[in-house]
Amino acid sequence: MKVLVIGAGGREHALVWKLRESQLVTDIYCAPGNPGIGQEAECLAVDLSSPDSILDLARRLSADLTIVGPEGPLVAGVADLFSKAGLRIIGPSKAAARLEGSKAYAKRFMQKYGIPTARFVVAENFANAVRSLGEFRLPVVVKADGLAAGKGVVVARRREDAEKALDDFMRQGTLGAAGERVVIEECLDGDELSFIVLADSRGILPLAPSQDYKPVFDHDEGPNTGGMGASSHDAIISSLERDAIVRSLVRPAIEGMAAEGTPYRGFLYCGLMLTVSGPKVLEFNCRLGDPETQPIMMRLRSDLVELLLATWDGHLGGLEAHWTPNPSVCVVLASRGYPGEPEVGKVVVGVDAAEALGGVKVFFAGTKMSDKHLITTSGRVLGVTAIGQDLASAVQRAYAGVSKIQFEGMHYRHDIGSRTPRGFPGPQSSSQPPRPGQARPGAAKV
Ligand code: AMP
Ligand code: GLY
Repeated sequence: MKVLVIGAGGREHALVWKLRESQLVTDIYCAPGNPGIGQEAECLAVDLSSPDSILDLARRLSADLTIVGPEGPLVAGVADLFSKAGLRIIGPSKAAARLEGSKAYAKRFMQKYGIPTARFVVAENFANAVRSLGEFRLPVVVKADGLAAGKGVVVARRREDAEKALDDFMRQGTLGAAGERVVIEECLDGDELSFIVLADSRGILPLAPSQDYKPVFDHDEGPNTGGMGASSHDAIISSLERDAIVRSLVRPAIEGMAAEGTPYRGFLYCGLMLTVSGPKVLEFNCRLGDPETQPIMMRLRSDLVELLLATWDGHLGGLEAHWTPNPSVCVVLASRGYPGEPEVGKVVVGVDAAEALGGVKVFFAGTKMSDKHLITTSGRVLGVTAIGQDLASAVQRAYAGVSKIQFEGMHYRHDIGSRTPRGFPGPQSSSQPPRPGQARPGAAKV
């Protein structure tokens, strides 16, 4: 089977790396890919902003299965084009991808289907938006409606910061059309969890739970990024908590999409806050997370292609995914300036030395080859990902890998893997260790 992966980041590198283990795969292509991916698959050019160019490429390659990494092509309707052409693709339709493409749509959808989320208002103009701020206590959260590559959310501690965000989005147009409409919402308190599932119209298969480290500096200081690291291990949530999340949040979302006439098929990323009154949805994404995918793929024992084919065929119900109990963490190495304007064009050294360490894999993101040198090209450059017998050894290995790599201006967080949620009321607390032989995560039978 020929498999095509769309995208160029660490998430796509981790997918390609995992696909190489599949018994079902003969050829792996990635477009546009990156130098790390190029060592494991054939990379081809594609215009990511053009669904037609992605379809053309899949046809040219006779790809049996296409997996879309980033949200852009999905929100632009690439899955609809493939479905019409009778080609297999993993990712939701344009209508279903609105769950990520419009925060206002997602919030109204959650309200309609009783999915717990922060109280909110949608504002279409600046004056109404400023007036609506008065309905919320500080801190308050201001979100641009459209896709903003991780730059569309401001958690404002002071009213003037909220007004500045509204001014930036709605009057200065810093995010273009994405900021013309905003969602203003109550600030939730708790631990964050990235809960990603594979879904078809009938079945839901939760992936291993993960946590993203979004702010740029240690101890969650500084502005949000696309993600400075991630961990995946079984103590993040208990199996009862997982089942409760599927029951109260994920299943209503999948059933709600079907009821809207826009059935959901593909990865659904639920960004959750575990609050004292239970889990609530911060956001939906219509794709896998980056960097969450890197540790998740390290832990997956099942054949990824089998899971994806079941998703396409609508046979996810009752399917089990198998995971190693060993924890995994990914530390992102970023360019100076990120998440602002990154300084790029720096020579990267030490990747081979990092990978020579046991249990370490370096997933490439913003890099290119030039004169046989690996050169940085964007904010997030590499994701040093490690697996260990326990969380401490996974963390130790990942940072041992990090210590081998250098480029000018490189920065990273030093506390990836240091957090574990305290659980939430109702189901068994996540602080209880799993009983021996207790399988989690896996297919939720709910
Ligand atoms: P989003 O893109 O909506 O997930 O927002 C990005 C980040 O902003 C989240 O991962 C949270 O850290 C934070 N955030 C978003 N919404 C809220 C909220 N209602 N309360 C507190 N923090 C939030
Ligand atoms: N790491 C957060 C995301 O992929 O949206």
